[in-house]
Amino acid sequence: MKKAVALVLASLMMGAAATGCSSPGGTSSAAANNGTASAAQSAAESTVAASDVSVGVCIYKFDDTFMTGVRTNMQTQAKSLGVNLDIVDSQNKQPTQNEQVDTFITKGVSALAVNPVDRTAAESILKKAKDKNLPIVFLNREPEANVMKEYDKVWYVGAKAEQSGTQQGEMIADYFKKNKSADKNGDGTIQYVMIQGEPGHQDATLRTKYSIDAITAAGLKVEKLAADTAYWDKAKATDLMNNFITSKGVDKIEACLCNNDDMALGAIEALKAHGYNKGDKSKYIPVVGVDATAPGLQAMKEGSMLGTVLNDAENQGKAAVNIAAAAAEGKQITKDTAGYPVTDGKYVWIDYVKVTQDNYAKFMK
Ligand code: GAL
Repeated sequence: MKKAVALVLASLMMGAAATGCSSPGGTSSAAANNGTASAAQSAAESTVAASDVSVGVCIYKFDDTFMTGVRTNMQTQAKSLGVNLDIVDSQNKQPTQNEQVDTFITKGVSALAVNPVDRTAAESILKKAKDKNLPIVFLNREPEANVMKEYDKVWYVGAKAEQSGTQQGEMIADYFKKNKSADKNGDGTIQYVMIQGEPGHQDATLRTKYSIDAITAAGLKVEKLAADTAYWDKAKATDLMNNFITSKGVDKIEACLCNNDDMALGAIEALKAHGYNKGDKSKYIPVVGVDATAPGLQAMKEGSMLGTVLNDAENQGKAAVNIAAAAAEGKQITKDTAGYPVTDGKYVWIDYVKVTQDNYAKFMK
């Protein structure tokens, strides 16, 4: 019955296409329709109705600001496609996640979407999916390239960490070029501290490297005063920044680069406790983050954070659900069914966007 409805819907939509009706605004961009229309269009080729699709989703931990955004957008997209999502919290424990995957398989889900706790565990999870011929989409924590080659029904949705690091570095370089007094000791070198995400995460490694590369590529010199991990976490970043301030001296730190916004906000709390970044221009250290979370954008508005980079939770969430649903329905994964361009048949890369004082307001919701 449901399948019959889908077929009627599909033929109506195909009819609309034949009479020249286009999407609102006349756009034909795949990202603009997010695969929703094409999902209906190709329903006729599908052997499984959307309402019969159930996707088992594991998120590395629910208590993560950015991944909460992805999760919420996955739910919204599932609703609009009419597929069922079962989302579980892996509580930052890989053994827990492995058991959750086993349970989903036993329950008979039609696809999996996994944000691994430890990305090196992706291979064993992929094998579980492959044994059952189940489609699997990894997100946010990228499996090694050789693992991605092991199965024809595995995809990855994420963003190029290099790009976010480069954009952070460019914002710091621009700031130092425009504000000569930012080089407080006048030695022609930026003394910086770096607050990193968890070791082994591609976003931590690459943002750390590419942010500094972009500063030096802009012709500026850098000196690392201190760097350590705060595991993406705001409170841990406050503690770490306090340690840096105690050991190096707040007046010696000229820039603070953080692998995400939560840690940037944590560092800003420590700075504020020392009288910095509260509005007095002589007591300011530029801090940059990544994600453009709501609190991150708020800090930009109040002037305590120099810049951030949009990590597009909405489009990453949509792409992951589109692919899991389409693959479960037996469709090929293409730009039409994924709603986004697919690289090498397996990867959907969502662009980062630089968020500065000039454009932050348009990202506030
Ligand atoms: C990053 C994001 C971090 C954190 C991490 C989790 O992409 O910037 O804030 O959510 O993913 O894997």
